[in-house]
Amino acid sequence: MMSRVLFVDDDPDVLDTLRATIETAEPEWEGAFAGSGEEALGLMASLPVDVIVSDMVMPAMDGAQLLQEVMRRHPGVVRIILSGYAEEPQALRSAGLAHQYLMKPLDYQLLSATIARAGALRALLADPRLQQVVARMGTLPSLPALYVKLQEACRASDVSLGAVANIVEQDAAMTAKMLQLVNSAFFGLRRRVASPLHAVQLLGIDMVKTLALSAHVFFGVDPLRLRACALGDQWSHGLLVGTLASRIAAFENADPETVEHARVAGLLHDTGCLVLASSTPGAYSQVIALARSQGLPLAEAETQRLGVSHAAVGAYLLGLWGLPEAIVRAVAFHHTPGRCPGGGFDALAAVHVGDALAHELYASHVIGAPSALDAPYLDEAGLLGQLPAWREACRAAVTDAAA
Ligand SMILES: [Fe+2]
Ligand SMILES: [Fe+2]
Repeated sequence: MMSRVLFVDDDPDVLDTLRATIETAEPEWEGAFAGSGEEALGLMASLPVDVIVSDMVMPAMDGAQLLQEVMRRHPGVVRIILSGYAEEPQALRSAGLAHQYLMKPLDYQLLSATIARAGALRALLADPRLQQVVARMGTLPSLPALYVKLQEACRASDVSLGAVANIVEQDAAMTAKMLQLVNSAFFGLRRRVASPLHAVQLLGIDMVKTLALSAHVFFGVDPLRLRACALGDQWSHGLLVGTLASRIAAFENADPETVEHARVAGLLHDTGCLVLASSTPGAYSQVIALARSQGLPLAEAETQRLGVSHAAVGAYLLGLWGLPEAIVRAVAFHHTPGRCPGGGFDALAAVHVGDALAHELYASHVIGAPSALDAPYLDEAGLLGQLPAWREACRAAVTDAAA
């Protein structure tokens, strides 16, 4: 699928370099180039664009003003901003103007991967209603500063666990959440962990980064809004589904990466609920009322009212954040695994089953009718026969960890 990518920078040399690089390195992109915000908006009026990559600091209209205007005029366009370190774009981030922030100097490979992912995900989640809902969310959670710092640190090939622990320790709330997580049933450890370094050693750098992302989604949202939507218990539901999904994957002797993907995807599978509830609280209360009064699964009530489900919204966001494709896929299809081609055992199967068993065994689900198991899908993937054994493994998962 061809993507048209519009680059905006007031430095002509930067544009020339980009033009030359794209021609040889990215045949899938059609590049467009503008030397100012005004020129970019003029171009977009007549030329459909999929992705805009804008410099932050420009004379006249700056990157933030430009992306604000793009958000208003062309809500379906993926917005990426390039920013220097010194500017600390915190205020911008919380304003949700950009779907993705990249640091200067431009890491071309990172940009390429970011655009490729945005493109792949758009193909995966091509429903125009989803595009509209996501793009209009002014408050789409952007990458948290802590995550960006960890990402930067991890680019050094010799990054130490101690250095990662030092970065995390600067954020008291994150440190508390990390310790809570390692000491919860999620990891099934029998000793108490009190030091951030020890926690980082146990979790591994990738999991710490994921936690930095998810803590932002789970705890960055105004609790009053969530209470209004009765979504207070999302964190424990996510932890439980992550625990069960990784148990199932381990039971299947899946490779360590798949076990980890199942754990992370389980933790984040219902992220879209938080995103929808915090960005459209009024409409979301109606969704919940509908699910309750009609006894519908939440995803179905969302689709009826908003045209999209939390599964698609969550997957879209996690994809833009750069989480592994297997995790994004598991989140995207956790209620409808039969729609995802592939088959066989993977993180998606683990999360789909973990979500259903979380309700069946521990009465844990969000709102409305609980997630049902898709027996035809499991049968077709050759996994239906495993269900009784998985149920036993999951029944033991939480009691074990609590022992
Ligand atoms: Fe869900
Ligand atoms: Fe769920």
